[in-house]
Amino acid sequence: MAFPLHRSRRLRRSDPLRRMVRETELSPEDLIYPIFVVEGRGVRRPIPSMPGILNLSIDQAVEEARHAKGAGIGAIILFGIPAHKDARGTGAYDSQGVVPRALQAIKEVLPDLQLVADVCLCEYTDHGHCGLIQGQEVHNDSTLPLLAQAAVAYARAGADIIAPSDMMDGRIAAIRKALDEARFESLPILSYAAKYASGFYGPFRDAAQSTPQFGDRRGYQMDPANVREALKEVAQDLQEGADMVMVKPALAYLDVIRRVKEQVNVPVAAYNVSGEYSMVKAAAQNGWVDYDRVMMEILVGIKRAGADLILTYHAIDAAKLLS
Ligand code: PBG
Repeated sequence: MAFPLHRSRRLRRSDPLRRMVRETELSPEDLIYPIFVVEGRGVRRPIPSMPGILNLSIDQAVEEARHAKGAGIGAIILFGIPAHKDARGTGAYDSQGVVPRALQAIKEVLPDLQLVADVCLCEYTDHGHCGLIQGQEVHNDSTLPLLAQAAVAYARAGADIIAPSDMMDGRIAAIRKALDEARFESLPILSYAAKYASGFYGPFRDAAQSTPQFGDRRGYQMDPANVREALKEVAQDLQEGADMVMVKPALAYLDVIRRVKEQVNVPVAAYNVSGEYSMVKAAAQNGWVDYDRVMMEILVGIKRAGADLILTYHAIDAAKLLS
């Protein structure tokens, strides 16, 4: 069955025909847009390493959420940067913290927009680690109740989905139990199940001022060389009660996304992280690549690899092109 009987070009001859036979469709509803919330009013502070992305005070985050919803995006994820950081990451589980207040404010004006709340201590600790420090170690078990407390605070404030990104062992079970006890048994958990220790988080740590003040995150985030371990993490989180699982970052881990997709029957999310975004922006600003084309190619590639949902800073740009 070869040439000249078969000519693959026949199905590529026009745009309507190409659309008919397209295997992967990207939709604005697949995209989750991250927003960085800070204290204050009227604050729109650009993040130098992430062109187009800002630190926003709650009033401005509401406007940004409105903008995202207007572009057809189904969900946003909130990251909070508190005015004060401390050793125990108090701002993360303070019911009057910046994220709970932002959740309330956004929910009030945009009840249909799905609000994902990232649960982690690193944006709130003065040492920048994702858990409590004991000696020189990030201590696992004493961190769990604080993560659970944060999850409940976000649930009470109106979060639709709880997304733990800390990579402590047992946190899904701890969070599930706390949510159930607080009568949030119907609130889903999107677990950052396979989160790698990655250099691609560099710009995010600028945005959240969450660079570890000593050591690094390799004691809790995964080794980039491992894929079987990702499957184990995913299986374990599902067993503990996760409703959806995430692979993070996306681009250097497309094989992991594919393997996870083949193993599970829950929705799979992928996080197209800050460094992945900034590289595209930087190359485009230099005129080296066409921003729109490269962005869409990357997003469709992540979806083709198996992601049902994509967390991406490109969300608004992409949604505008898709509509
Ligand atoms: C931790 C968290 C991080 C990101 C999302 N949640 C940073 C980290 O582990 O250092 C990174 C996201 C990105 O780079 O876009 N709360």
